Amino acid sequence: MTTTLPIDQMIDTDRGTISREIFVSPEFHRQELEKLFTRAWLFVGHESQIANPGDFFVSRMGDGSVILCRDAEGAVHVFLNSCRHRGMKVCRYESGNTSLFVCPYHSWSYTTDGKLQGVPLYRVLYEGQLDRAEWSLIEVPRLHLYKGTVWASWDPDAPDFMSYLGDVVDHLDQVLDCRDGRPGGSEVIGLHKWIIPANWKFAAENFLGDTYHNPSHRSVDMIGIGPSARAGQSGRRDNEYNNGQHVWVSYPQGHGVHSVWMQEDFDYQPSYAQYPIVDEYFRHCFHERKQRLGDKARIMPFTGNLFPNTSYHGRQPRGLCVWHPHSPTETEAWRFFLVDADAPAEVKDALRHFYMRYSGPAGMTEQDDMENWLYATKSSTGTIARRHPFNYQQSMGAYRRNEPIPGDVSTQMTEQNARNYYQVYARYLKGDAWDSLIGRGEAQRQAAE
Ligand code: FES
Ligand code: FE
Repeated sequence: MTTTLPIDQMIDTDRGTISREIFVSPEFHRQELEKLFTRAWLFVGHESQIANPGDFFVSRMGDGSVILCRDAEGAVHVFLNSCRHRGMKVCRYESGNTSLFVCPYHSWSYTTDGKLQGVPLYRVLYEGQLDRAEWSLIEVPRLHLYKGTVWASWDPDAPDFMSYLGDVVDHLDQVLDCRDGRPGGSEVIGLHKWIIPANWKFAAENFLGDTYHNPSHRSVDMIGIGPSARAGQSGRRDNEYNNGQHVWVSYPQGHGVHSVWMQEDFDYQPSYAQYPIVDEYFRHCFHERKQRLGDKARIMPFTGNLFPNTSYHGRQPRGLCVWHPHSPTETEAWRFFLVDADAPAEVKDALRHFYMRYSGPAGMTEQDDMENWLYATKSSTGTIARRHPFNYQQSMGAYRRNEPIPGDVSTQMTEQNARNYYQVYARYLKGDAWDSLIGRGEAQRQAAE
């Protein structure tokens, strides 16, 4: 079924205008939940959060609570957190370890591989009627583990996760890999959860590559809250990006990133002068990484958004963010902070402090962003405001294909990543087939030309 909304009029990326309705209307919110969040691959958690058999972490997919857990045999599952009897949440904790999920309502119980095990008074009340094998917890049909991260889709026909990712993987790898370039090896050192009275797409769009909003962080830049804590010099982060070409890259699947393509001879920029152990660690990692990755080490990821609602900070403060829609005007933000699992305690500790002063509900930088998103939402809900679209005309057409890295690459600040994102968003809402959603159709057309 396709939506009745006039999406093409509301999302006009040729002209560079997008209706405010998609940020405030309950109808769009409903359509997103039904047509986008039930199909796209979504980030649900990290394997380090469920390291042992029986470990679980309660996550979200769209508007649904899900349980990410490791069963007794060590296999990873994602289940809808809703009892098959009357729908009660079978798990009301945020995380923990268990051998059984016992429903608080009438005490049906499920093993960690989702099977219905215990049914009170089974012999007396259900014998011959209830086939327990048919009433397991509802499990996601598609699951993919990638370098410690866990992704799931409710659509059995979804393309494989790596095709869904496409070429953005080169940037995501720099988030998930060890700082010295070894593949994977990250762990979640902490998780912030908070609720913002703003539409979730403002946050996703910000991470897609909205570098234009830098003036709103002027105060933290003046104070200097970065790891090196030098006012006016390193601003919010360290200075490893100084000698490179900033690139804004978008992909047919809807992802977008802002990274830096470093000069060939780029060198380590000391950033932790006041923490000698930390400085030594990052200096060592820097050289190892360059050696190990070769040309790919020139990609320094800054921020990005994996379609639809998983964002990242690639270097500092390193981590993944998920924007869960509660309503058109309310978002639950989750921020997973990553460190190298085998880094020295001093390194983890210094990063933890930096992460907290930068990010989350009390972080000095993120507070600036939230103010913007919540007032942009609030001031777009009025009757007159809703008649006037937003402007997305920055650097129209200013990008080149696959140069110097794969994707549509702009070397000047641009809203191309956002225009591309909303084009893909519109296709989901129109119910397009997967080939169109992940750009396969477009790639075939180009190859045929
Ligand atoms: Fe779970 Fe009844 S709702 S046992
Ligand atoms: Fe910001």
